[in-house]
Amino acid sequence: MTEKLPFPEYRELKEYVGQQVEIKGWIDNKRSSGKIAFLQVRLDGRTVQAVAGRNDLSEEMWAEVERVTQESTVRVVGTIKEDRRSPSGVEIQMNGFEILQFAEEYPITPKEHGTAFLMEHRHLWLRSSRQRAALRVRSEVEQAIRDFFYTRDFTLIDSPILTPAACEGTSNLFETDYFGDKAYLSQSGQLYLEPAAAALGKVYCFGPTFRAEKSKTRRHLMEFWMVEPEVAFLEFEGLTELAGEFVGYLVARVLERRREELKILERDTAMLEKIVPPFPRMTYTRAVEILNDQGNAIAWGEDFGGDEETILASQFEQPVIITDFPAAFKAFYMQPSPDSTPERETVLGMDLLAPEGYGEIIGGSQRIHDHDLLLARIKQHDLPIAAFQWYLDVRKYGAYPHSGFGMGIERFVAWMCGLPHLRETIPYPRMLYKIYP
Ligand code: 4AD
Ligand code: MG
Repeated sequence: MTEKLPFPEYRELKEYVGQQVEIKGWIDNKRSSGKIAFLQVRLDGRTVQAVAGRNDLSEEMWAEVERVTQESTVRVVGTIKEDRRSPSGVEIQMNGFEILQFAEEYPITPKEHGTAFLMEHRHLWLRSSRQRAALRVRSEVEQAIRDFFYTRDFTLIDSPILTPAACEGTSNLFETDYFGDKAYLSQSGQLYLEPAAAALGKVYCFGPTFRAEKSKTRRHLMEFWMVEPEVAFLEFEGLTELAGEFVGYLVARVLERRREELKILERDTAMLEKIVPPFPRMTYTRAVEILNDQGNAIAWGEDFGGDEETILASQFEQPVIITDFPAAFKAFYMQPSPDSTPERETVLGMDLLAPEGYGEIIGGSQRIHDHDLLLARIKQHDLPIAAFQWYLDVRKYGAYPHSGFGMGIERFVAWMCGLPHLRETIPYPRMLYKIYP
């Protein structure tokens, strides 16, 4: 097997119908009757079927086909035949076969395994068809995010991961030692985006984000990827529109380019097809009334949990945007609402709740742009003024109204894929007390 043959990528296979080619990959699965063998060979993350009758191969090669195990790496030589029924559109009629590395007893077999076992073997679990499909959807979402902002003239600003102060409250910070000083892993790039918005107008950051959430829910990770736009002179109305357009664009993009993956994930796409902005919105105060009408006893001033979000979202087939939250449980930097009163202080914050029980996928707000008000809030929240001096500075030199939001992409991907838990939406999930592999 030394002759030079074409070595197509998965996506090029169809161009080689009728030709002899070579491919290298992993054995996803195998069936053999003793007379004819069907190998599912994984190439570029998808599978192509290679077929051989006993008489198509030399005796030695046939013995290797019979012997080969799941996840062995192989070299297959054969003729490409059109096969409309297969996702690849082709099948390979084998006339050459070689085992490159024989895999002994691959731990993940097609039978059922428990989640704890699969999580311990995450480095291998990635090879399973559902995991591959979810990661391909994630990759599409990341690309679509970049395209969305690039085509709208946003500049990508990579915010730092090591930071001297908190952005989203001090209760869930990962602390580290920075040459004798305390530093924290970033909870959000927002504070660093705001000065950049004064420099560049429309900016976004997209990177890893850390929250030491001592909670074991299916919607929280310790490390997740957040995309955050920040726009100069964008006020609250415009912010809710931007969030709607953004989500609408991403959903359409996944439906357009990742059908095959959604099929593997058995995702019913009927609900996703309906997602078209603008999305319904309501104030927090109205949401509390609806919850009370639905038999939920939440009082004005309390934050929503998963149950409240599910009830609210189930009122609509579209995502719903909740606005004007009580200042008391929102971040220090949020601009007061125009109809805020001393009894009921509210802020121009928004949460976007996804349908089908996926809950909050976006949180955002208009930011306080008045220096003295911001300083008062920093004091109220007991934050160290010195650490925020630079952030206050932005309000001294050309203050401007501005707004932005953040979306954790794992929650969005879970919704797209119909996955109940975030752990399957990121290659290596970081969860409570779990950091292996
Ligand atoms: O609502 P959050 O905390 O908002 C911020 O961090 C703002 N500074 C963003 C901004 O305005 N630029 O987080 C935003 C989003 C949530 O809606 C959720 O999608 C995700 O980040 N998120 C998490 N995802 C996974 N695991 C966690 N522990 C998460 N915490 C927040
Ligand atoms: Mg939030």
